[in-house]
Amino acid sequence: MKRFSILPVVVLMASFWACGLQNTEGNDNGGGQDVQGIQDTNTVQHPQFYALYQAYFNTCANCHAPGAMGRTPDIEKSLDFSTADTAYATLKGQAQGLTGNVQACNGTPFIGQTYETSLLAAVLDGAVRAKFNAGSCTSDEVTDMTVKAGQPPAHFLESLKQWIDAGAP
Ligand code: HEC
Repeated sequence: MKRFSILPVVVLMASFWACGLQNTEGNDNGGGQDVQGIQDTNTVQHPQFYALYQAYFNTCANCHAPGAMGRTPDIEKSLDFSTADTAYATLKGQAQGLTGNVQACNGTPFIGQTYETSLLAAVLDGAVRAKFNAGSCTSDEVTDMTVKAGQPPAHFLESLKQWIDAGAP
């Protein structure tokens, strides 16, 4: 009896394996995300950003991610640091949903023409913050995110500057 009972298991495993193959194919041809290769592009097409994410930006997900533990109602609403992919995509947008004093920064791009004119740099680098002036969004309205996320590792800001000044590839 023991010998025979193995067969259904083998058949079952084989069909799971086949299903897996099918799904992979299906996703490659179907789901909009995979067609553009968004899930796979970071290490290949955005290596500089991927390194920044691994070094520090992943900690921002403690608050800036759907359902994050540290998320509060007054948080900036568009940033999503869940993965390097979502971080890269949402950092290309503009601040949204800020309330109170900081609402003056709504509509400000996170990444400007240069490091010095980027809201992303202003929330991390005190020197940039002090001189920041993007319309109504000035140093008074920009919050120091290192208070919330901890200090970035050594040379992180230099790497961030290189990435932004290269056009945030
Ligand atoms: C403990 C929770 C928390 C963490 C961690 C955190 N943030 Fe925030 N962030 C907030 C809240 C709340 C706001 C909105 C209110 C404010 O500006 O203080 C905000 C606002 C922002 C804004 C808009 C700021 C403005 O003043 O216009 C940016 C940009 C931002 N965060 C980036 C980051 C980045 C990058 C990291 C990681 C290095 C990070 N945040 C980590 C809670 C957090």
